[in-house]
This record gives sequence, structure tokens and C-alpha cells, in this order.
Amino acid sequence: MSLRVAIVGSGPAGIYTAEALTKQATVPLRVDVLERLPTPYGLVRYGVAPDHTSIKSIAGYLRGVLELPEVRFLGGVELGKDVDVADLLDCYDAVVYCTGAMVDRRMGIPGEDLPGSVAATDFVNWYCGHPDMPADRFVLDSPEVAVIGVGNVAVDVVRVLAKTAEELRATDVPEEVLTRLAASEVKTVHMIGRRGPEHAKFTLKELRELGELANADVRVRPEECVADVTAASRQVRGNVEVLRSWATRPAKGLPRRLDVRFWMRPVEILGEGRVEALRLERTRLEDGRVVGTGEFETLPVGMVLRSVGYQSVPLPGVPFSETTMTVPNEAGRVRDREYVAGWLKRGPTGVIGTNKSDAAETVRTLLADLADLDPVRRADPDELLASRGVSPITYEHWLAIEAAEAALARSLDRGERVKLLGLAAMLTACDLELRPGGDLEAGRTGQAG
Ligand SMILES: Cc1cc2nc3c(=O)[nH]c(=O)nc-3n(C[C@H](O)[C@H](O)[C@H](O)COP(=O)(O)OP(=O)(O)OC[C@H]3O[C@@H](n4cnc5c(N)ncnc54)[C@H](O)[C@@H]3O)c2cc1C
Ligand SMILES: NC(=O)c1ccc[n+]([C@@H]2O[C@H](COP(=O)([O-])OP(=O)(O)OC[C@H]3O[C@@H](n4cnc5c(N)ncnc54)[C@H](OP(=O)(O)O)[C@@H]3O)[C@@H](O)[C@H]2O)c1
Repeated sequence: MSLRVAIVGSGPAGIYTAEALTKQATVPLRVDVLERLPTPYGLVRYGVAPDHTSIKSIAGYLRGVLELPEVRFLGGVELGKDVDVADLLDCYDAVVYCTGAMVDRRMGIPGEDLPGSVAATDFVNWYCGHPDMPADRFVLDSPEVAVIGVGNVAVDVVRVLAKTAEELRATDVPEEVLTRLAASEVKTVHMIGRRGPEHAKFTLKELRELGELANADVRVRPEECVADVTAASRQVRGNVEVLRSWATRPAKGLPRRLDVRFWMRPVEILGEGRVEALRLERTRLEDGRVVGTGEFETLPVGMVLRSVGYQSVPLPGVPFSETTMTVPNEAGRVRDREYVAGWLKRGPTGVIGTNKSDAAETVRTLLADLADLDPVRRADPDELLASRGVSPITYEHWLAIEAAEAALARSLDRGERVKLLGLAAMLTACDLELRPGGDLEAGRTGQAG
């Protein structure tokens, strides 16, 4: 009899876990990858910026794992809604949670919830066409926008705001989103770092791209770029060097402007009924901590994009630390027969590749535990799902969605693929239907392909 493992979440962590299981196991096994969405690849599809096509092509590698004979993709199955932990432990010998980090961190300042103050998670979901985010969610009608944070997500968001819709035409951005980007009235984007350029989290390659924007001049204040980086890493020295070169570069008079600020922290978002301005305070470090200097500045922005990091959400019935906002684990082991990998295991940092070694560690732990596993009563996962009225979206259905996205791109004379918007469009592409009320999990007319 083969070992049966459920992986919850089909982002990089989930798929690298499936790959490591198939490579490392010395016993026969079968792996089901459960995913709440109809589509695999997590943030590779709904996070990686649309104009970063070479990074998105990692999906080609992940696809190879889903096509392994031992691996099955079960889309449209959500832990906590369609199945619970007890169900999975009934059906599988081991469960690996890989549900990532789906929500934004809070800044904890007044005005954070005013209309026009937006989590980067929502904005990214919007331009990536995530089915949780309606296409009409954003109207870019403010000439000035502030992006808080100087990490790589902030860089992505700034780039999407600064580029023309024409520059994004060949990407997979949904057509409705592209139309809204074309109507954007944004002229100035302020990118705000609460510490110095030497502390910024962005990587050199991503930073350099901002200096090469065809539609926006980049401005940095020389006095905000003062930093002793002689003992710093190559990455930090590179960042500071690039920023300093921008500080002395003459503006070209391009239609948009990117203003990169350092040593400024947001203290309040101001406005009557919606965002009208952002109040910043100059900062300095005191014993390694960011403290305010009492010197304030107000930016007349109509939108504030908070790109201050993602965070995981607890899964029902799974241990969760409210301190680290991760699932407590030892080398990936959570409890007997339960494991974790990816951002849910170590927090929302690291590039796609980081999840590969992380998943490999979890799988080593899981396989080492195998010898001590108690015999498990085996319920059948297919029977369980059928009894809940859930007929999963299969890998073949996903291929039909992909084919529809390629056909849409051809019909619009745009790139290789244009994302379908919304669950209904995706299900139509694979001859399935939503139940009235918009639920994914029941009332499907088709059968798994
Ligand atoms: C905006 C953004 C852009 C990025 N760009 C890059 C980049 O260009 N290059 C790079 O190397 N790294 C990039 N990263 C980092 C990279 O995306 C992450 O390292 C990686 O995606 C984390 O993998 P994960 O599998 O842990 O989480 P995720 O990729 O988030 O996958 C989690 C999956 O679990 C599913 N799920 C959630 N809850 C449930 C549930 N209850 N039941 C079933 N399924 C569930 C989700 O739908 C999702 O598919 C980016 C990150 C972000 C946020
Ligand atoms: N192209 C790529 O490779 C790519 C693209 C996107 C994302 N990613 C990866 O995905 C991960 C997540 O990226 P991320 O940008 O979301 O997170 P991040 O790298 O942790 O950056 C978060 C930024 O927000 C700032 N911040 C946090 N709290 C704040 C507050 N209260 N007020 C003001 N600023 C605040 C941080 O400043 P402090 O440093 O002062 O805390 C930091 O500048 C990273 O590992 C990233 O490299 C990679």
C-alpha cells in the first residue's frame, strides 16, 4: 500500500513539497495537492508582477511536478470550508500545510482605514486578477500616490503605477484592469522608507529597474542617501550606489515622477471621508530603534498603498502563534502526522527558490517520522469530497483555463496569455458552473476531467 500525503496550498511551497516527496521517498506514495482556487501556483500566478515574465516562467517548472504520475491537483478545495483537519487525517497518512501569507500587516496609525488607504495585498491581487478582487475595486484618479515601504513588493507596486498601460499590454494583466490602468491620473508616486537606504529591503536588480522606467523620472534627495556602507554587504552597497546616482541625475521631463524618500515614517493618514494627505515624521535611529525627530511633512496624496509586509492567517484546527504569525514547528513538524512549509512555516520573506530548501527540510522530517507512524485508518478522499458536494477542479480543468487565457490573448492581440477575471469565467472555460450565489464548491455541472 502506498503512503498518501495531502498538501494544502499549491504555491511554490506546496509544489516543492510534492516534488521533494516524490524524490526523497523510498516507499511508494501518492500526493494530493489541495487548493482553494481553481488555479495552481499561488503567488507565482497572483503575486509576481505581470511584467516579470521571466520569473513567472517558473510556473513551467512547477507544472512538471503537477504532471508527475504520483501527484494530483485538487482545485476548489478549501481547508476550513470544504474539509477540516480531522477529515484530512482520516484520509491521509500525513498533511502538509502550505497556505502562505494572504493578508497585509497593519501600520497601526490613525486614518489607516480611510477609503483610499489600501493594502498592497489588495492592489497586487487586483492587477494580478485574483478572483477575490473585483476589477472595479480601484480607480486611479489621484495625481499623487504614496507607497509605504521599501521592499520588493513596494517596488512592484511602484512600477505598475509608473508604467503606461501600453508597456503592460503584452503581459497577462486582465483586460478590465489594463483599461483602468490606461485611465490612470497618477503623476507622482512617493515611495516611503522609514529608515535609511542602507536598511531598504529591495534587491539591487529590482531597484535598478526603477531607474530604467521609460515613463517616469526618479528623484532621490542626496541628504537622505547619506550612509556609511563600507562594511555593508555587496547588496546594500549596490543599492546605496544606485540611489546616489539617481540623486545627481537630471530629470528628463517624463510624464510621471517617482520620489523615493528615506528616514520618513507615516504617522497619520488625513482626510474627511477619504484619503487627502499623508503626514510623515522625519526619523533617526536610537539604539537601533526608529524614533521620530519631531520634524513633520505632509504629502497631498489621494491614495496610500501600504506595502509593509504580508502575514499568515490561522487555519482552523491548526496551531498558530500570534507572536510570530506562523505555525509553530520543529524542522517542519507541527504535530503527529501534521507538517508545514513555506511562508506559513517561516513568515513572509524569501524568494520563490527559498521555498525549495524549506520544503525539502519539512519532507526530510516527515519521511524520518514515517517509521513511527501509527497505522492510519484510510477513508477515501474522493468519497469524502463527493459526500460534501465538492467535485474538485482537476489539472485538466486548469489546462482548459490556461487554453482559454491564451485564446483571449490572441483575440485581443496581446502577449501569450490574458488572465480570465472571476471564478465564473474560469469555470466556464472548463465547462463547469458556479452555483447561484457565487459559491465555487457545489452545483458544478461537469465532472472532473
Ligand atoms: C506581491 C509579491 C510578489 C512576489 N514576487 C516575487 C518574485 O518576483 N520573485 C520571487 O522569487 N519571489 C517573489 N515573491 C515571493 C514568493 O511569491 C513567495 O516566496 C512564495 O510564493 C511563498 O510560497 P508559499 O507556497 O508559501 O505561499 P503562496 O505562494 O501564497 O501559496 C499559498 C497557496 O495556498 C492557497 N491556500 C490558502 N489558504 C488555503 C486553504 N485554506 N485551503 C486550500 N488552499 C489554500 C492559496 O490560494 C495559495 O495558492 C513575491 C511575493 C509577493 C507577495
Ligand atoms: N522580485 C522579487 O524577487 C520579489 C518581488 C516581490 C517580493 N519578493 C519577496 O517577498 C518578500 C516580501 O516582500 P515585502 O516587500 O512584502 O516585505 P519586506 O521585504 O519585509 O519589506 C517590507 C517593508 O515595509 C517596511 N515597513 C514595515 N512596517 C512598516 C511600518 N509600520 N511603517 C513603515 N514601513 C514599514 C519595512 O521597513 P523596515 O525594514 O524598517 O521594517 C520594509 O521596507 C520579500 O522576501 C521579498 O524579497 C521578491
